[in-house]
Amino acid sequence: MKELEEKILKEGHALSENILKVDSFINHQVDPVLMQQIGDAFAGHFGNKGITKVVTIESSGIAPALMTAISLNVPMIILKKQPSKVLNDNLLQTVVTSFTKGTSYELTLSHQFIEENDNVLIIDDFLANGEAASGAIRLLSEAGASIAGVGILIEKSFQPGRDKLIAQGVDVYSLARVSRLAKGVIEFIPEEC
Ligand code: G4P
Repeated sequence: MKELEEKILKEGHALSENILKVDSFINHQVDPVLMQQIGDAFAGHFGNKGITKVVTIESSGIAPALMTAISLNVPMIILKKQPSKVLNDNLLQTVVTSFTKGTSYELTLSHQFIEENDNVLIIDDFLANGEAASGAIRLLSEAGASIAGVGILIEKSFQPGRDKLIAQGVDVYSLARVSRLAKGVIEFIPEEC
């Protein structure tokens, strides 16, 4: 997506060979106009797949997921990393380990928000090792939903996430595919590849 790649080149900072800082428009400050364009782009790609719900993982996925849900006119569900301590026997949980952050958390979904005939689109900001998306797929599959696809804002294509999801038969659509990062260097895989 041209607008996202241009924004990344203008405001993103490659901190190392692995980390791209996008705090000024995705992770901390949010660019609402860009988010609307992102939502429209995901709706354009997945719009004919009969999606009934958009699902994301807190927190940075919420803005683009909400715009996608508005564009598709379906509800949005946020998978929680810190479930409420209030007792609830209707929770589905799975452990997700983030290699980037060196942390683990229990991804949590309240079963009441997913029905067996739901066809779900998962939206997230980064795809690195594919652990968060794989955890979301585990939970949603356990709840009986079908996975229509995974929409990603920034895929780090030099990391194994995409291959891991494709090996599970998932339709992965990334708006910006970063082929290389180095201090001060950000390169993309051309869109048509
Ligand atoms: P994976 O889900 O693909 O396996 O990725 P991984 O666990 O390695 O990293 C997940 C967390 O790290 C996510 O944040 C993701 O946004 C963040 N992340 C991964 N690579 C980058 C990067 O290059 N730049 C930035 N800025 N973040 C990166 P999270 O823990 O879900 O936090 P949140 O921001 O959504 O709250």
